[in-house]
Amino acid sequence: MAPMNDIYSTEGVFMNELQTETSPFLAKDPSEALAFYIPISVVFVIQYVYRPYRTYDRAMLQAVVEDYIGTVSNKYPYWNRTEGADHFLVSCHDWAPDISRVHPDIFKNFIRVLCNANSSEGFQPIRDASLPEIKLRKGVLGLPDSGFIQPPNNRSILAFFAGGPHGFVREELFKHWKEKDNEIQVHEYLHKTLNYNELMGRSKFCLCPSGFEVASPRIVEAIYAGCVPVVISPFYVLPFSDVLDWSKFSIRVPFKKIPELKTILEGISEAEYLEMQRRVIQVQRHFVLNRPAKPYDLTYMMMHSIWLRRLNVRL
Ligand SMILES: *[C@@H]1O[C@H](CO)[C@@H](O)[C@H](O)[C@H]1NC(C)=O
Ligand SMILES: *[C@@H]1O[C@H](CO)[C@@H](O)[C@H](O)[C@H]1NC(C)=O
Ligand SMILES: *[C@@H]1O[C@H](CO)[C@@H](O)[C@H](O)[C@H]1NC(C)=O
Repeated sequence: MAPMNDIYSTEGVFMNELQTETSPFLAKDPSEALAFYIPISVVFVIQYVYRPYRTYDRAMLQAVVEDYIGTVSNKYPYWNRTEGADHFLVSCHDWAPDISRVHPDIFKNFIRVLCNANSSEGFQPIRDASLPEIKLRKGVLGLPDSGFIQPPNNRSILAFFAGGPHGFVREELFKHWKEKDNEIQVHEYLHKTLNYNELMGRSKFCLCPSGFEVASPRIVEAIYAGCVPVVISPFYVLPFSDVLDWSKFSIRVPFKKIPELKTILEGISEAEYLEMQRRVIQVQRHFVLNRPAKPYDLTYMMMHSIWLRRLNVRL
């Protein structure tokens, strides 16, 4: 079982779901299975394989996964049947995309379900699926307390962000907006007297710039807070975009337009905003993790993403 807290929670919750005998997703017999899960948690590989060596060399992680696939493909007929095209791995860890870097031939069909869905780093939306990153408090699933969430007509802050200066997008965001404007509230550190969730619940738009990686737990936090996400993340393939039309409930701002952020957001009419905000509330259930999973929740959405990719495979 993999860890189920913090930003890697999605991979842990997924593994936990599939290791539960009563899970509705499990086939009773491999011949009935549509797809095969390679149950490797990158978080655990780091915890158990790396920690003693104090190294960041990805070779050990690559060796663990290749060895696992080698074993599975020797023992069972399924991997060879499709050259891995009906096999998948789920990981929210930044390192996960590196797994296939040394021997891309082994992984050419393999479905990678990743939070770090950077299309400029080998993520292929036709084969791979993008997974939302969620920062969970240990053991707390479901929609968080909605006590702070204001109705759309009582949101006095136009846009909000608070977070560390990680990566080139935030650097640009800070250069133009950090503590410069009352309506576009961009903070590096939030003063102790201020409450992050409360501020999100009082904002119309929540800025979700990429950090060190393209994915950010802020997108899901914004959705939970009923705050329309403003995604500023070049090359990021948004989760579930096979079925969710993100343009209906979020704004995407290109990196180059960061200086125009205020003009862009002010250009959205009240009616358009209300419609988007209503849709944010409507999609919330697709970003909630439950154990056991509930129809239309995040786990079902992930399964659907995998199933869609599996449809491309002819046996
Ligand atoms: C799958 O292919 C590999 C490489 O060709 C081979 O070594 C292995 O025995 C095959 N697995 C099965 C179950 O036949
Ligand atoms: C509006 O929001 C403020 C917090 O920003 C809150 O104190 C107040 O009760 C809210 N009013 C209504 C009518 O919801
Ligand atoms: C996405 O990948 C490109 C190409 O490697 C890289 O330049 C960029 O920094 C990545 N984005 C993030 C946020 O890491």
